[in-house]
Amino acid sequence: MTDHEAMAALYKRLEKVVVPEAWEGMAADITAIRALKKEKNAVVLAHNYMTPEVYFGVADVTGDSLALAREAAAMQVDVIVCAGVHFMAETAKLMNPSRIVLAPDLQAGCSLADCITPQDVRALRTKYPDLPIITYVNTSAAVKAECDICCTSGNAKKIVESLGVPEVVMVPDEYLAQNVARQTSVTIIPWHGHCEVHEQYAPQEIAALRRAHQGITIIAHPECPPDVVAQADFSGSTVNMSDWVAAHHPRHVMLLTERSMSDNAAVDHPAIDFVRPRLSCPYMKLITLASIRRALETMTYSIEIEEAIAAPARRAVERMVAVK
Ligand code: 13P
Ligand code: SF4
Repeated sequence: MTDHEAMAALYKRLEKVVVPEAWEGMAADITAIRALKKEKNAVVLAHNYMTPEVYFGVADVTGDSLALAREAAAMQVDVIVCAGVHFMAETAKLMNPSRIVLAPDLQAGCSLADCITPQDVRALRTKYPDLPIITYVNTSAAVKAECDICCTSGNAKKIVESLGVPEVVMVPDEYLAQNVARQTSVTIIPWHGHCEVHEQYAPQEIAALRRAHQGITIIAHPECPPDVVAQADFSGSTVNMSDWVAAHHPRHVMLLTERSMSDNAAVDHPAIDFVRPRLSCPYMKLITLASIRRALETMTYSIEIEEAIAAPARRAVERMVAVK
């Protein structure tokens, strides 16, 4: 298949989720990125919140934070471009210390990662000297380095229970901690961080949605407030959401999470009506075809983590990956 034919076939898949005026520029970037990946022996890891042209156009691996961390550990390439936010690029680097890991835009942070510092964790350690500290993967490597084990929204309950203790501290997402606490007998002491996107969903919105769309299925990410999750039909990480949709094929569904996730799921499931959520993550949206192309052309921005931080942070991620 020629490049032109490949782009025409891709556009056919994406025509409902990309604006036609933008496609010519996107196709040029996708063709260039595909060539750069070959030239540099590079792969693109893309989070489920990437826009469809990134997700379907240039990604080699897609998934939730857990899948990206796991897959990053198995990459036999020279260069990994992380199409996601900064903590995801750091996690990829922790798992691939000898490879070049590129973050396309250093401004692509995360409100959860920004709401806790290593000093905060040390203060928690002083306050709760006997309790293990679990860090959500949405934190800096420096915070992970102070914690005992990492978790993601896809495995948080399993990680909490794997420690075999009656009480744990979990940072930084208060809502994730509260949502997990409802599913386990382990007492979870939370930190007070929130995702600036998911915290905006409110229970009244669910009631209004159910009135407006008869029979709609509502799926909420566990970063949503507990009173939202309690009213949803299912809650799980971004991959858990996709798997649930693939298994249950609801007729109308709304994924209460970042907006692009629904665009990508709608491409994969054309027979399902995805009611689009209103919110998108401003940090994830900084990662574009243009920034990925620039990253590969200039080989920037390379993630570097000093070993004094990387070694304990890696241990926290590896402990998580080892929990079956
Ligand atoms: P997942 O691990 O579920 O993909 O979530 C990551 C994230 O940042 C959600 O806001
Ligand atoms: Fe962070 Fe929220 Fe954006 Fe996820 S959606 S990357 S938790 S700010």
